[in-house]
Amino acid sequence: MKLDNKGGIEEIRPVLPTLRLGKPTNLKVGPKGRLHVLYYTKDDKGTLVRLENKGVTEGAIAPGLVMGLEGPPKQLKKSREAWAGYQLMRKSDCLNCHQWTRAFVAPPYFQIAERYKADPTAAETLTQKVLKGGVGVWGQIPMLPHPQHSAKDARTMVNTILYLDELDSRK
Ligand code: HEC
Repeated sequence: MKLDNKGGIEEIRPVLPTLRLGKPTNLKVGPKGRLHVLYYTKDDKGTLVRLENKGVTEGAIAPGLVMGLEGPPKQLKKSREAWAGYQLMRKSDCLNCHQWTRAFVAPPYFQIAERYKADPTAAETLTQKVLKGGVGVWGQIPMLPHPQHSAKDARTMVNTILYLDELDSRK
């Protein structure tokens, strides 16, 4: 996009007219100035795409697939309840921000399970945190409240996260 000296739009040039990004749910510019776009395909697979300016020809931006989002740990299926919690998370927005083993927008679930494994009140405090949102425990990015979930569903999701402590994050 080109602006004139009053800040008005003078020209808009399409970038990557052939690139299809599904329904982007999250956009972020990384430290190197690359644009990261998260989107979901129809079958619910999350895809993260990184766009970087190769600087070869003006305006040429080469899309590169960086990584698909992590799927749930297979061993979660061993527990029917834990798997049910995952289904709730999948239908909610949780996996837009949380991955399982890798830091993303939010702390990875395995790390949360590790942090609270010796805390008997964690299930309750984390349930409230999911419902009401909060910030400052892991960093300065807030988690938004989830008033759309019942306390029971939030608790089921939190139990799934805490259950990860019994699993091996490398499998
Ligand atoms: C918009 C991004 C986003 C979404 C969506 C999101 N979270 Fe979070 N979540 C975060 C961030 C950021 C933190 C760290 C907050 C902090 O530092 O206090 C966090 C922290 C947590 C924690 C740990 C809280 C603590 O105090 O240690 C749990 C558990 C959690 N999220 C579960 C969930 C569940 C379950 C969902 C879906 C219902 C969800 N999150 C959706 C961003 C998100």
